[in-house]
Amino acid sequence: MGKARRNRSQASGLDRRSVLKGLATLGAAPALSACGEAGRQLSGPAPQVDADVAVSFIHGVASGDPWDDSVVLWTRITPAEDTDEIPVAWEIARDEAMTDIVGSGVFVTDAGRDYTVKVVATQLEPWTRYWYRFRCGEVVSMLGRTKTAPRAELALDQLRFAFSSCAWYSMGYFNAYRGIAERDDLDVVFTLGDYIYEYGGDELLSTPFALGRYMAPGHEIVSLQDYRTRHALYKTDPDLQAAHAAHPWICTWDDHESTNNSYADGADNHTEGEEGSWTERKRTAMQVYFEWLPVREEYNPNTHPDAFLYRRLQYGDLVEFFVLESRLEGRSVQAENAEEAADPQRYMISPQQEQWLIGGMRESTARWKVVAQQTMMSQLFIAPGVPYGYDAWDGYVAQRNRLFEAFAEIDDVVVITGDIHTSFCNELTVDPRDMAYQPGVSGSVGVEFVCPSISSQGLPLVVVNVLQLYNRHMRQAVGDLEIGHGYVVMTATPQRCEAAYRYMVSVRTPLKLELPGPVWGVNSGEKTLTRS
Ligand SMILES: [Fe+2]
Repeated sequence: MGKARRNRSQASGLDRRSVLKGLATLGAAPALSACGEAGRQLSGPAPQVDADVAVSFIHGVASGDPWDDSVVLWTRITPAEDTDEIPVAWEIARDEAMTDIVGSGVFVTDAGRDYTVKVVATQLEPWTRYWYRFRCGEVVSMLGRTKTAPRAELALDQLRFAFSSCAWYSMGYFNAYRGIAERDDLDVVFTLGDYIYEYGGDELLSTPFALGRYMAPGHEIVSLQDYRTRHALYKTDPDLQAAHAAHPWICTWDDHESTNNSYADGADNHTEGEEGSWTERKRTAMQVYFEWLPVREEYNPNTHPDAFLYRRLQYGDLVEFFVLESRLEGRSVQAENAEEAADPQRYMISPQQEQWLIGGMRESTARWKVVAQQTMMSQLFIAPGVPYGYDAWDGYVAQRNRLFEAFAEIDDVVVITGDIHTSFCNELTVDPRDMAYQPGVSGSVGVEFVCPSISSQGLPLVVVNVLQLYNRHMRQAVGDLEIGHGYVVMTATPQRCEAAYRYMVSVRTPLKLELPGPVWGVNSGEKTLTRS
């Protein structure tokens, strides 16, 4: 996996057949194939392409997985009726007015990929803002803005990024995505999972009647069409569209992009037989994720047997991200008790991913090693020594201990986490009850920042306040009392990595009011948290 990160000579995961077919349709293939990479890169304005049917762009645009010379561009085109193939032209420019075009091409999409469009714009300048859009006939998409990464050798003085997770459509407005969209100071944005939820509209805690935010389809998603319809629903949300259009995203899934509490061989919310086979459902969920999210195709396990979504992305000499996949590749079934949870043969991430992570962090040339992952890595005791549950890292203790052993020897390790819909700033330590660990002083191997949810119900404020009594390593916790949904803005400099929590006043109304939350950070060379 790691090797794919810098392998720039690959065909960028683009559907070569579609492109060539599309260019042939345009009569352009012979001239373009000479410039390599499937001849997809044109100079000058995007060619004029037309569909046989009326089309529209109603699912917005997105960009993702920025490298120092390329970025993924995404959209979806909606034909008025089913049609064979639709050529979609794309262009990327240095300016918002789209006058200084630096790349363009055509991508031919069809029903086989749900009319989604994913291209990789290459030959870009490092650490540079770009604007992009798509066109079919006279119909033009909204404008997107993106930014490439700096070269790994660059001495970078600051990186600022946002991270979020858990957007339950029927449970609330995506006001936090609007907050992210309106910021002009972000270099990149992360989703750490539960980008969609698989449930129907009638589950407990879901409040569509009050909000008018009904799930589509109105039942739990299981089939290919179901997953596509759900992703399509999400991508009609104006706040989510705005957040995608404003920044490049780095995306990883948690369980709800497939189904609740999934693991490699099954899921709590999957009934084998009645809901088809798990192998098929998992494959379907991953297929649709890669259709609808701006993730490079070479990380798609359905089409690249050596890949499984996890990947490294570097921002100069300052930050290297290690993005994990902790659900579908290697996760063992959730433990039933503490004894099982301690079994060294149980895995949250596959043994090869564990090796890739530890090896990669050891060899990283960046100051901050930021592990972007799904469920809480720190312990979460609900009573002295009693874990909250076994779906998070508390259920995979031996593997966690192996990671902590490695982290202890690596400088400047920061973990960013989603899943639990509640804000926590934790110090990572093998056993927080051990007096060798002194909060804020010694005995920790790194730090963890857990983000609030975009809209999913979190742990109640009162519960969280009690939890802090049993969890010494939890230096800050903010529960859900309506306020408690939002996102985190992280600023990394050579001296410090700092997380600023941001909360929306409401998710039950479309009110976009945002409040600042606590700010905690870690100084370079230290492994403890300090409040800013
Ligand atoms: Fe969630």
